[in-house]
Amino acid sequence: MSATITITSPTSILENGHSVDDKIPKETVVSLPPTASGWKGTSFGAKDPYALMRDCNANSRLTAQHYLWKELLGFLVHPDIDTRATDLRVADVATGNGIWLHDFARGKPSSIDLHGFDISLDQVGPKPWLPANTHMHIWNIFENVPDEFVGYFDIVHVRLITVVVKNNDPRPILANLKKLLKPGGYLQWDEVDTIGCSIKTVPGTSAENLDTLFSQLKGRDTWKYELTRIMDENGYTGSTLYTYEYGLGTARFWSDLYVSTWKEFAENALKTPEVSRQLEHNAMLETLNGASIMVPTLVWVTKKIDDSTN
Ligand SMILES: C[S@@+](CC[C@H](N)C(=O)[O-])C[C@H]1O[C@@H](n2cnc3c(N)ncnc32)[C@H](O)[C@@H]1O
Repeated sequence: MSATITITSPTSILENGHSVDDKIPKETVVSLPPTASGWKGTSFGAKDPYALMRDCNANSRLTAQHYLWKELLGFLVHPDIDTRATDLRVADVATGNGIWLHDFARGKPSSIDLHGFDISLDQVGPKPWLPANTHMHIWNIFENVPDEFVGYFDIVHVRLITVVVKNNDPRPILANLKKLLKPGGYLQWDEVDTIGCSIKTVPGTSAENLDTLFSQLKGRDTWKYELTRIMDENGYTGSTLYTYEYGLGTARFWSDLYVSTWKEFAENALKTPEVSRQLEHNAMLETLNGASIMVPTLVWVTKKIDDSTN
């Protein structure tokens, strides 16, 4: 049996918990197969003002990005953090399509307990297809930590939430991530350095348009330069920043990712389709001639202060 629904809003939630893109004309009627895979019921309540998109292109970008990150860093969890416990509890907050958790689970005992949290689970695969030890929850990082997860996790991981940080202040996020952690538990926070980035070109190539395009994506995220200190002043200890930079040999792979991130942003936030299309066209010509966006990646490792022994 299949259900028929009428899509009437830009991001209607379908029966299976997934949403549809706003390019589908209003009042389009689609037939849906019956499903029990929905993410409804796992929600701790969240409204979604996200600046990027959640369609198949956005999802593919997250997947490609994950593997480039992994190749550059050489780890998912920094070697400072011990991951050997067979009863390890790990959270990936703002999990996106859950690829980090999926990859982390590989080769680990099924006794470890994995939880992904996000304001939307539209990018995650169907619930029944997840391993039994992987759980996904809808949760807004600025809302109260659900009671069952207070002090629960050995490791909390978060990656690429620059657009989520409000007012250049990571403290509200740090406070909530700390609540998720056990005393002595680790936080690993991975970001891109959106200020210390540059454009590299082969000699004689102009990159004016690529530069303009990327400058629209760049923020004034000065909190990243203070995050180590902010962590140490807010209940964490031994906070350390590690920086990683890709070379020219892989620069094109990364640069294409940033252009596609910009496309999502341009479509969702800039709302200047004609100007953006022209800019993208010119920037891609420069890319073909030998120009790339270079962005250092940043990894903070820190530990929640353990005052339980005092
Ligand atoms: C750029 S994606 C990164 C996804 C994933 N961490 C990765 O590295 O592949 C940012 C994610 O943050 C999520 N997000 C945005 N606002 C959020 C909020 N207030 N609370 C929780 N998650 C949020 C988005 O839904 C999206 O999945």
